[in-house]
Amino acid sequence: MADKVLILNGPNLNLLGKRQPEIYGTITLAEIDEMCKLHGTQRGLAVECRQSNHEGEIIDWIHEARELKAGIILNAGAYSHSSIAIMDAISSAERPVIEVHLSNIHKRESYRHTSYVSKVAVGMICGLGAQGYILAIEAISRILEDEKKRLTGPSSQKLIANP
Ligand code: DQA
Repeated sequence: MADKVLILNGPNLNLLGKRQPEIYGTITLAEIDEMCKLHGTQRGLAVECRQSNHEGEIIDWIHEARELKAGIILNAGAYSHSSIAIMDAISSAERPVIEVHLSNIHKRESYRHTSYVSKVAVGMICGLGAQGYILAIEAISRILEDEKKRLTGPSSQKLIANP
């Protein structure tokens, strides 16, 4: 069965395409979701995309992913810069999380330079627009492959044979 990857987008990202196109581009979230699902299929991953403007809902979905998903790609929008609760949820998820931002948050206002998500994510991609989500799928795909190799590779066989 295909590994399941959850792509979560946070507040205001439902307005992509209309919202500050000079910063975020003209692509809509529906188009990004479509592109990600297609790319996931090509990598043997079942990609599911959700968006919420509510912190608690994003936290609930991260909790759900703990049991049901292999990995998470998260653009927490402005919550990235403020939410210790989302950071804690990621820490408890025990699943690899890749952080994505369409814009280069380090080139922007200083209040965007700190991300609580970055403190607990495996890695972060920013400034590459919608392409960042595709690169995040590539990263998750490799991480999950490596995880499988570690669990089934010769050294783990040795551990099973000689506990
Ligand atoms: C964003 C960057 C955040 O600073 C901002 O609040 C967003 C979008 C991005 O994708 O570039 O809502 O996460």
